[in-house]
Amino acid sequence: MAKKNRVWNAWKQVSPIKTWFHRKKKVNQWAYIVRDEYAIKAQKAWFRARSVYKLLEIQERFWLIKPEFSVMDIGCAPGSFLQAIRNIVREKIIIWVDLKEVKPFSYPNVKTIVQSIFEYDELSKSVIDIVWDDRFDLITSDIAPNTTWVFDVDQYASVELNIAICEFSDRFLKKGWNMLLKVFKWEDFNDLAMQVRSRFEKFVTYKPVACRDSSHEEYVICFNKIKD
Ligand SMILES: C[S@@+](CC[C@H](N)C(=O)[O-])C[C@H]1O[C@@H](n2cnc3c(N)ncnc32)[C@H](O)[C@@H]1O
Repeated sequence: MAKKNRVWNAWKQVSPIKTWFHRKKKVNQWAYIVRDEYAIKAQKAWFRARSVYKLLEIQERFWLIKPEFSVMDIGCAPGSFLQAIRNIVREKIIIWVDLKEVKPFSYPNVKTIVQSIFEYDELSKSVIDIVWDDRFDLITSDIAPNTTWVFDVDQYASVELNIAICEFSDRFLKKGWNMLLKVFKWEDFNDLAMQVRSRFEKFVTYKPVACRDSSHEEYVICFNKIKD
């Protein structure tokens, strides 16, 4: 074992490739830690995920969430978006939806649904059971597919999830109101843009500072739903 270590250390010292690799790895790790001040900040502030800072930045810029709103948050686990939303919306209903079970909050105005956005009928039924015939003033989503690490596949899965949310908004978002989506923006983005354009007066895309540089994720802020 000791011999193996000696050989390994000696090889590390003489091998230019290994030395270069090691230096690169160190730099990357360091950069990752510095960039991930958001993860540390989130932990200190008792937020369940660093994504909350993306929502807070969007909120500061676009003022999407208002205290008198009812909100639906889709793809919500582990729940940091919800924590930020609940800090503003104290009384009106907030429904959060995810495939995964989420650790519940004990706020009376927060209701959980564990279902997929693709299960349109079942999900609609669960929502109606909670809100009756009501609709939401705002839909937020930070949904992301399970990554396969084949970027083409992941970005299309992300577009498909968002198209399903657009269809859901037809029934559950009030006319004249807004929606926030997150997408892996790449070559299939136009498929989603078409769906959004047919439903909303305008949209903008925005990448918060808290998104990692390496990530292709962007938020799509859809303003003023056209149809009832
Ligand atoms: C990036 S996480 C959301 C983080 C969350 N916004 C927060 O602040 O804690 C993306 C979520 O989308 C969910 N998701 C993926 N596919 C889904 C689907 N078909 N229906 C509902 N949720 C889905 C995943 O389970 C995952 O929890």
